[in-house]
Amino acid sequence: MTAIEELKAEHQAVFMAISILDQIISKLEVSQALELRHLDQILEFFQVFVDKCHHGKEETVLFPAMEEAGIQGEGGPIGVMLYEHERGRSFVQGLQIGVEDYRVGKVDALAEIIENARNYGRLLVAHIEKENNVLYVMAERVLSADKMAEMTKSFLRIEELVIGPNKHEEFHATLHALQDIYQAYS
Ligand SMILES: [Fe+2]
Ligand SMILES: [Fe+2]
Repeated sequence: MTAIEELKAEHQAVFMAISILDQIISKLEVSQALELRHLDQILEFFQVFVDKCHHGKEETVLFPAMEEAGIQGEGGPIGVMLYEHERGRSFVQGLQIGVEDYRVGKVDALAEIIENARNYGRLLVAHIEKENNVLYVMAERVLSADKMAEMTKSFLRIEELVIGPNKHEEFHATLHALQDIYQAYS
């Protein structure tokens, strides 16, 4: 698997997580019942797997390599991706605040959770489609096989540093367990 294929495989996991989040939110809208434990698990996936790990690989390894190969950063496609990562972070933060507000019984908490979850899901789906269909295609065109191999090694280091050994597999196991639960609602 090349470094780009690895990122694309992670996108598949992110799609799965967004679909689970959508189902948690749909259930919440229908019944006003929030599965807090499930939302906490999916939130951790977005904060650690998606933001720290996946976006970390893109921001510290892939995008700099693409810029070095002549793709425009600020003001170009990479700048747009960075901006969308920031927007995503603020929605995840909003979601986290919503969860904390829910725990202390604030009245607006559910609306806050629903709004941030929906916005985040919409943003991330569009973001991933742009990366898969445009940005990663550019990367595959401009990056050499040697550079790709070097990136794979850097990704491994990020995983070890950011999420620690075995955590990646744990995240996948959690996602699959949640998917089994929420399939009934889809
Ligand atoms: Fe990205
Ligand atoms: Fe991505």
